[in-house]
Amino acid sequence: MTGAKFQRHWVDIDPERMERYEDMFRWNPATEHFYDAAKIGAGQVIADFGCGPGHAAIEFGKRTGAGGHVHALDINEEFIKRTRKRASENGLGDRITAHLLTDHRLPLADNSTDRIIARNTIIYVDDPVATFREFRRVLRPGGIAHLIEGDWRMTAVEPVPTGEWRALIEAASGAWPRPEIGRQLHRFLRKAGFETVALQVLTSPDLEGRLIGMINTVAGYARNSGKMERNRIDAVLEQVEQGLVDGTYLAISPQFVATAIA
Ligand SMILES: C[S@@+](CC[C@H](N)C(=O)[O-])C[C@H]1O[C@@H](n2cnc3c(N)ncnc32)[C@H](O)[C@@H]1O
Repeated sequence: MTGAKFQRHWVDIDPERMERYEDMFRWNPATEHFYDAAKIGAGQVIADFGCGPGHAAIEFGKRTGAGGHVHALDINEEFIKRTRKRASENGLGDRITAHLLTDHRLPLADNSTDRIIARNTIIYVDDPVATFREFRRVLRPGGIAHLIEGDWRMTAVEPVPTGEWRALIEAASGAWPRPEIGRQLHRFLRKAGFETVALQVLTSPDLEGRLIGMINTVAGYARNSGKMERNRIDAVLEQVEQGLVDGTYLAISPQFVATAIA
């Protein structure tokens, strides 16, 4: 893999970060509509690419029912163990198979899968076109690849001055191989041979602080990069806090949802 740095970020996760992810990746009913166009239903074989600790795989397992199957795929061993444990605790041990990936190839047969879902994972792969070709190989004709990704350079946070927010994103952007993956999904899918690709951009403005975790994560990446002075980063976080207190806070993080038919 050429993106060894990004692979290590996900392969080596310390216990504190692992517990944060357990919480962050919990299934959130408020974002269920991100999955609507995937038309997940009974009897389907689903692959969850970048499954994390398995929360979404459990939901898919419930929806596909006894006649369906979920393949949960990830490069982190602990996520795979947690997904297996979670599946068995939910009585879905025989309907969910968790696989540890070592490269972009999927341990699935040609034309074997009805849906491949990937959320916030394509941003980390080495070569999205090679990954999407692999998705096409395993999808049955008429099967769907459904991708949900953000686009860091399209985010906005008020009342932080635009230039300061942009500077923070630029300082942090070494943490992602492709900070603009959202807008690139369509192009990469077409290059991989998907002829029918539908695209939505979904966003619900945050006025209450729902995206504070994301803002703190970005600030942490910017701090680690050493590319922005600490006092400027602290000032951004103070403006966010102040905005929450005086009611001027607003954060927007568009989610690109691409649905491609094989
Ligand atoms: C931001 S998390 C998203 C987890 C989950 N899809 C969600 O939305 O809650 C990214 C996930 O992708 C996995 N991942 C990173 N690089 C990957 C790769 N090259 N192939 C497969 N999974 C990968 C990580 O281990 C992690 O579980």
